[in-house]
Amino acid sequence: MDRFFSGRAAVVAFFDKLFNVILHKLWEIEMQIRFKPVEKFDVVIIGSGISGLICAIELSVAGKSVCIFTKEAVTESSSLYAQGGIAIPLSTGDSFERHLQDTLKAGTSLCNVSVAREIIKNSILAYEKLISYGIRFDLTDDAIPHLTKEAAHSFARVCHIGGDASGRFITKALIDKACRESNVSISQGTAVIRLLKNEFGRINGVLACDVTGNKYSVFAGDVIIASGGAGRLFKLTTNPQVSTGDGIALAYSAGAYLQDMEMIQFHPTVMHVNGEPLLITEAIRGEGARLKNIKGEYFATSYHKMGELAPRDVLSRAILSEIEKIEKAKSGFVYLDISSFNKEYFKTRFPTVYQACIEREVDLFGAGIPVAPAAHYLIGGIKTDLYGKTNIPGLWALGEIASNGFHGANRLASNSLLECVVVPHLLVESLLTQKELNLSQAEEMCSVEFDENQYDDNDIENILNELQLRNLNSLGLVRNERLLREHKFWLHNLSEKYYVDKLGQNIKIQEFKNMILLSNLICTLALERRHSLGVHFRQDYPALAESYKHSLIAQNFELTWEEEKSQVTLCYF
Ligand code: SIN
Repeated sequence: MDRFFSGRAAVVAFFDKLFNVILHKLWEIEMQIRFKPVEKFDVVIIGSGISGLICAIELSVAGKSVCIFTKEAVTESSSLYAQGGIAIPLSTGDSFERHLQDTLKAGTSLCNVSVAREIIKNSILAYEKLISYGIRFDLTDDAIPHLTKEAAHSFARVCHIGGDASGRFITKALIDKACRESNVSISQGTAVIRLLKNEFGRINGVLACDVTGNKYSVFAGDVIIASGGAGRLFKLTTNPQVSTGDGIALAYSAGAYLQDMEMIQFHPTVMHVNGEPLLITEAIRGEGARLKNIKGEYFATSYHKMGELAPRDVLSRAILSEIEKIEKAKSGFVYLDISSFNKEYFKTRFPTVYQACIEREVDLFGAGIPVAPAAHYLIGGIKTDLYGKTNIPGLWALGEIASNGFHGANRLASNSLLECVVVPHLLVESLLTQKELNLSQAEEMCSVEFDENQYDDNDIENILNELQLRNLNSLGLVRNERLLREHKFWLHNLSEKYYVDKLGQNIKIQEFKNMILLSNLICTLALERRHSLGVHFRQDYPALAESYKHSLIAQNFELTWEEEKSQVTLCYF
C-alpha cells in the first residue's frame, strides 16, 4: 500500500512540476506578448516639467530621438505653479560668491559646495538660455530685469516673468519649443511603472502603463527621471495632484540610492480657503507684506531677526506656534497683511495671487490673506552627481526628484528654478559624451509581478486621505519619536495590506502604492535622524547635528550616513 502511495506521489509530483514548467513558459510568452516593445528611443524622459523639457529640446537638437512620458497632460507639472522666479545675482554689488554664501547658510552646512558653486556660476548662462527659448523677463522702467527679494537672500536677486507667473510662462515656452522639435515625441496619460535593465544591469527601457491600464515596454538607450516632487504625500501642499513621488519609487525599485529623503521643506504662506491650497509667493513678503496673528499682532521679528524673510523652516514653525498659542489651532491660519501695497501695483505685480483672492472672496486689502504652512518641496531624492548621474548605468535624474546636494538641509528660495535650467545642460553634455549608446543590447525579460487584487476606488480614496493627514501630523514641521514610531507601525501594516512590492494594475493604484512606499522611507529616516537640522526639526532632539551627514538608503541595503566633506567656513559680508 505504502509503495503504491509513494509511486502515486512521485507521479503526481512529476505532473505537478511539468504543469508548473508549462505554466511558467506560458506566463513568459504572455509577458512577451503583453509587453512587446512598441518603440525604441535614444532617451526616454519621465516627466514634463521645466528640466525634462529642456533635456528633450537639447537632446533633440543634438540629433537624439526622445520620448517624454507624462502621466497627465504635458501641461501639468509642479513647474507650472512656480510663482517666485529664478535666483540670479544680477544686482549691483551682488556676486556669485554672495549667492553661494546665502545658499550654504540656508542649507545649514549640508550643501555640497562644489555642486552649489557650479550651479550658481552657470546662472548667467541659464538666464541667457531662457531668453534664447523666447522667455521675456519682467523689466524695470529702465529696461533692466526687475529683481525681487525672497527669504534668506542678502540681495534682491529673483528674476520673474508675468509678475508671479514665472513657472507658467517658462513651461509654456518650453512646451511650444519641444513640440516643434522633430525628434521629440510626447506620450501623455502614460506612467512609467518599471525601469528595465539588460543582463549587465544597465537601464535599457521602461514598462509603461496608459490611462486605460494597457501596458507595454519601450527600449531606450538612457532614461532620465524628471518627474517632480512628492508634496501630495501631505494633506496640505502647494503641489499639484501629479506630485506623488513616482519617480523616486521607480528608481528605488531599480536599486538607485536615495539621499536625505526625510528633508521636506514647508512653505510658510499658503492660502487654503475655499478651494485647493494656493501658494502665496514669498516675493510678496520680500516687497513688504507682514504677518499678523488673528489678534492683529505682528510677530515675525520676535522669532527671528530677519522677520518675514527668515528661513522658511523658522518662519513656518513661528506661524504654527502663533496659531496654537492664540487660537488653540482652531482657525488654523494667520494673516498676510498687504495693506502697505498700492492696489494697482499689487494687481499687476502679483496677478495670480490677486485673481485667486478675488475668486475666493478674500478681503485681501482689509483683513489680509489667510495663510498657513504647507508641504512645498522635496529636498532629498534620487542621489545624483552634478550631471544628474545616478549609481545605475543609463539612469539619470534631475530637478526636484534628484538630490545632488545643492540645497543642503534647507533650500534657498528660487534656487530650484535655477537648478532646473542649469542641470539639464550639464546632463545633456555628459550624456552625449558617454561612450556610444547601444540599443541592441539584450533586454531583460520583463518579469513583473502584478497585484491581482481588485480595490474599491472609494476605499483607496479614504485611505489616501488618512495617509495624507497622518503624514502631515507625523512627518510635518515638528517631529518626535512617539509620533514617528506610531506612524511607522501604521505604515508597515498599510504596506502589507496593499502589497506595495507588487505592481498596480493601473496608474492610480500604482501611485497609491508609491505614496505608501515613500511615506515609509521618509518616516524611517526621520526617526533615525536623531537631531535637528534645517527643515528636519525633532522636538525631542532640538539640538543641531554635531556633524553634517546625508542619509543614504537603497533597496536591500542598510541605511548609511555619509559625511558631507565639502564643508567651507562661511564668511558673511
Ligand atoms: C515662492 O514663490 O514663494 C516659492 C519660490 C520657491 O519655492 O523657490
